[in-house]
Amino acid sequence: MKSLINKNIILGVTGGIAAYKSAEIVRHLKKSGSSVRVVMTSSAEEFITPLTLQALSGNRVSTDLLDAESEAAMGHIELAKWADAILIAPATANTLARLSSGRGDDLLSTVSLAFDGPISIAPAMNQAMWKDNRTQENLENLQKKGFKICGPGSGEQACGDVGLGRMLEPLEILELFSSSFDQGNLSERSILITAGPTQEPIDPVRFITNRSSGKMGYSLAEAAIEAGAKVTLISGPVNLEPPPNCNFVSIETAKEMHEAVMHHVKSKDVYIGTAAVADYRPVTFHESKIKKDTDKSSLTLQLQENQDILKSVSELNERPYLVGFAAETDNLLSNAKKKLKNKRLDLIVANDVSNKEIGFDSNENEVTLITNAEEKVLEKQNKKKISKKIIDFISSELT
Ligand code: CTP
Repeated sequence: MKSLINKNIILGVTGGIAAYKSAEIVRHLKKSGSSVRVVMTSSAEEFITPLTLQALSGNRVSTDLLDAESEAAMGHIELAKWADAILIAPATANTLARLSSGRGDDLLSTVSLAFDGPISIAPAMNQAMWKDNRTQENLENLQKKGFKICGPGSGEQACGDVGLGRMLEPLEILELFSSSFDQGNLSERSILITAGPTQEPIDPVRFITNRSSGKMGYSLAEAAIEAGAKVTLISGPVNLEPPPNCNFVSIETAKEMHEAVMHHVKSKDVYIGTAAVADYRPVTFHESKIKKDTDKSSLTLQLQENQDILKSVSELNERPYLVGFAAETDNLLSNAKKKLKNKRLDLIVANDVSNKEIGFDSNENEVTLITNAEEKVLEKQNKKKISKKIIDFISSELT
């Protein structure tokens, strides 16, 4: 299934027995990272309650064109403007007829008229109604107008008849529905991203770590998924939910991150190291908690160097396109350029962490992209937008 992350979807539910499956469709859409607003016809409410679909979508369900309260919140025109795509499932024979003739006498038909993006329909009806010439004519007309028809399937029906007319299963519908979106400029590409800090244990209650919220790596993972890439995200401990539809690997130490990267990097097209990897770890791990020694006013901790993960990847025979991050407090550009050269990277993203308004826990960032051929400043903006631009830059470098 193509990525549905960050898409605004209107799910239209009309009055057929298959309406109970709409609940599962909402659940799958949410799981794949979409925002969902459900619009129900009045007959759909006979089959499934708005409350169920509201609880699953996390948004108020719209049912009535002439409901002053809901029109005040998000009216039919706002809904049409908000949506990236409409999916109507189940779509009854009556719905096909009404959409085909361009009626606008309830909320769903009005929103469909006002919407100028892709509309997919999953028909569900009795086999005789499906076969009927009038239904087939409506269908042909809708196809000509660019509606995407998902199904129906064949088999035993709720009424006992056997034949074409059953609504497809939710996952089959979503497979077809998701293909109405652009492939994205990273489709067919696989990307490995590291994020967050590593923790190097001293004893059971203490560790050495770096400052890192993981926000940059997680939003890059999201942007890459949105661009159609298959993403593996290897992360140290952070307070963030992994993006939907990514292969998520959780680690704690730099050694574990190194092992996970070397295991997953094979056959990847791009490696992006945003992780704040601890450069050193304690030489010995104390099995028991180190107790305060009242005779000593200082404690010496001996550290040994961790392996440089980016460098290990750059030494592979078949290495992916390599992206590093340089978080610097001084001499930003010259330090970043040194890392580009020493770690044999294709791109380094230079990030001034001495500026409190950007970097670390902030939602904003300003970075300079440096390759061997060019330097490009991405002005201060939120990390989501910066991530999209970095992903666009990487995809242009790959072609
Ligand atoms: N990096 C890595 N493995 C390490 C240390 C860093 O892969 N053991 C990666 C980071 O994920 C980042 C880049 O190298 O993409 C630069 O990390 P940074 O901490 O800025 O640089 P260091 O090489 O550790 O140098 P210094 O700490 O001296 O600035």
